[in-house]
Amino acid sequence: MTSEFDLWQTRLDAICARTALFRRAVVLPETRSTQDASETRNASVGTFVTTLRQTAGRGRFGRNWADTADAGVAVTFLVDAQPTERLVLASAVAAAEACEAMLGAMVGIKWPNDVVVGGRKLAGVLIERRDGLAAIGIGINVAQRAFEDELATRATSLAIEGRDVARLDVLSALVEALSRSLTAPDDALVQAFLVRDALRGNRALFATPDGPVEGEVRSVDPMRGLVVRTESGERFLPAVSTSVAEWGGVVRRAAALPTQSPE
Ligand code: BTN
Repeated sequence: MTSEFDLWQTRLDAICARTALFRRAVVLPETRSTQDASETRNASVGTFVTTLRQTAGRGRFGRNWADTADAGVAVTFLVDAQPTERLVLASAVAAAEACEAMLGAMVGIKWPNDVVVGGRKLAGVLIERRDGLAAIGIGINVAQRAFEDELATRATSLAIEGRDVARLDVLSALVEALSRSLTAPDDALVQAFLVRDALRGNRALFATPDGPVEGEVRSVDPMRGLVVRTESGERFLPAVSTSVAEWGGVVRRAAALPTQSPE
């Protein structure tokens, strides 16, 4: 009988043969983080590394990525280092498109690159630059039936949204979508973002170099920045130095927020 590992490797090899950007798929039976595996550290542009079981995934800003071991898709793509804002945008659009292919419905993108449904996070992206290339880590919640504690109100999965799909199908859709989006023109990516923009119209708290800024998001230009209506008037927050601390719900920890890059 074909093992799950062989099934993944065979299918992903076939996808590599037909996508423009990805030529090599590495499947690991288990790893702590696809960002940190030696197979990723030693790989070159055009490779992606995935695993049947990620046990200590990393999120943005040093957070954990709780992907419940074998219920999610965890993958790191090694690509040429394009400008960060473009990589962020292309990755978010690709993750959204892969989720939509499974759900048969549109999802939202919460700037800069969280895929959300009903305000809950379905997928996340972590981009790191190393030695002249970029490592794009994408996690998608697929088969989780529930999340515990604080995550219960903040996270969702394709299963919770009503779709029981195989992780390999989600990953296959993602590889094809990312190969497309990384070669798409900027204006097409911006349009693809804007129709899914989940932040506009919401109240949010931002970390900026000048300290926390709170207000209603009037518009988002994913490559440049956001216009926010605050108590003291409209402010433009540049993408390069702004991150979302809280949005669409209770705003907390305003005073303790560090300034963080939007990656
Ligand atoms: C975030 O939303 O904070 C980003 C989450 C990124 C998670 C993915 S899963 C694959 C890759 N390996 C990791 O350890 N992290 C990324």
